[in-house]
Amino acid sequence: MRTDKKITIAIDGFSSTGKSTIAKQLAKILGYVYVDTGAMYRAVTLYAMQHHYIDGHHFDVGKLIADLPKIKLHFVFNAELGFGEMHLNDRNVEWEIRTIEVSNFVSRVAEISEVRHKLVEQQQEMGRNKGIVMDGRDIGTVVFPDAELKIFMTASSQTRAQRRFEELTDKGQTVTFDEVLRNVEERDYIDTHRDDSPLRKADDAIEIDNSHLTREEQLDKVLDLVYEI
Ligand code: DC
Repeated sequence: MRTDKKITIAIDGFSSTGKSTIAKQLAKILGYVYVDTGAMYRAVTLYAMQHHYIDGHHFDVGKLIADLPKIKLHFVFNAELGFGEMHLNDRNVEWEIRTIEVSNFVSRVAEISEVRHKLVEQQQEMGRNKGIVMDGRDIGTVVFPDAELKIFMTASSQTRAQRRFEELTDKGQTVTFDEVLRNVEERDYIDTHRDDSPLRKADDAIEIDNSHLTREEQLDKVLDLVYEI
């Protein structure tokens, strides 16, 4: 790849496959913008929880849809962390959107077509000038079907649950491994079976199973792909 040629990099895959790790590394090396689209779905979920549209097992979808024009999402770059933190209606919610409570409901919110429509439009706008690495579930299939490089990440559900479990306990959250594994498997099911933009590998995406790859091996592999373009 010529260094002055900016491209779009789409990274999709199951939850906790390390999409954001590789996306952040790439963005840093290439000087690109990194966008975590999962954070946007999580922020909408947090909004619904804060307004009690989600309560226990009850979910008032109609009220959330009616409120969509009031939900303002944007990323504010944090130089210390090296990526943009999620802001919901001008409040930093980067930490709050990562709790297991939000994780337990986010797939239900991500099934709603009106939510997807709003977020996909904003994501396409963010990537208009290329030079972007975006991770999610539908980036290579729906958001940027013409992306120059599409990567589809996979790893076993046990490996992914272990990673998420360590991440959550490191942050001081009280969860059990079984709870995390159940959440990972439930989300896989909902993400791949929903009617609107289900998670699937784009025909022209390159699949990387990182169950047995170190972060360095994975980065080398992806960088080779970038420089081949
Ligand atoms: O990547 P993540 O685990 O933070 O994503 C949270 C949820 O959002 C996930 O269960 C699926 C959904 N999602 C989606 O449907 N489409 C995207 N582009 C990104 C995330």
